[in-house]
Amino acid sequence: MEEGAGDGYTSTTKALHWLVLALLIIQFILAWTMPDIRRDTPVTTLIGLHFSFGVLILFVAVIRLAWRLSHGEPEPDDGIPPWQVASARVVHWLLYLLLFALPILGWINACWRGMPVSFFGVFEMPKIVATRVPGWAWTGDIHGLLADYALLTLVGLHVAAALYHFVHGDRVLQRMLPRT
Ligand code: HEM
Ligand code: HEM
Repeated sequence: MEEGAGDGYTSTTKALHWLVLALLIIQFILAWTMPDIRRDTPVTTLIGLHFSFGVLILFVAVIRLAWRLSHGEPEPDDGIPPWQVASARVVHWLLYLLLFALPILGWINACWRGMPVSFFGVFEMPKIVATRVPGWAWTGDIHGLLADYALLTLVGLHVAAALYHFVHGDRVLQRMLPRT
């Protein structure tokens, strides 16, 4: 599938890509500075912001996936080895998967803990799991592990690949930059 007449990504794809990076940086700063969440931890400002930004990331992920599925991606440039094209594709889809799995697991866990999930005070997200219902306690640990290990490892690989292409002098990184 092709995206636009040029060789690069559309400006919408680029804007969504860099917006998600900015939101994830904010989200990790919040996650690592907010208090540890235990049985009776109140929803402090930092925790509330972590929930709100997480929900925002989920909304942006929905828009981004819809855009990606309806617009496809540009053809790889000539000369990029097929194994690199294939591994980039796998990493990109795993990143999409995590952009959905992480906020959904966090949301389930917050509900399970009986914590309200507000979207910046504008509206409240529905309660999707009853408080302390058996079978959902694991969601908090898996949410944290996927964020701290799986997401950061995949983003590390993804950024290393972008830097490799930059040093190599091809257009892979350039295609995702504004105004190219
Ligand atoms: C992509 C979005 C998100 C990312 C990257 C993310 C990341 C994180 C990280 C890094 C931690 C701390 C893990 C640790 O170091 O122990 C954490 C904890 C937590 N997050 Fe998120 N989060 C996201 C979305 C959400 C959402 C939408 C909610 C709720 C609506 C949420 C609720 C929680 C809760 C309840 C914890 C504490 C889990 C526990 O310790 O049992 N997160 N999150
Ligand atoms: C400094 C950080 C980042 C850099 C330098 C970077 C660079 C790039 C580049 C150069 C491409 C184009 C690759 C190609 O054409 O094959 C790309 C695509 C992509 N990146 Fe990143 N990226 C970064 C962060 C992230 C983050 C945090 C995510 C998501 C969690 C992400 C998800 C994706 C996805 C899914 C694509 C495929 C195109 C799309 O559907 O949007 N990237 N990135």
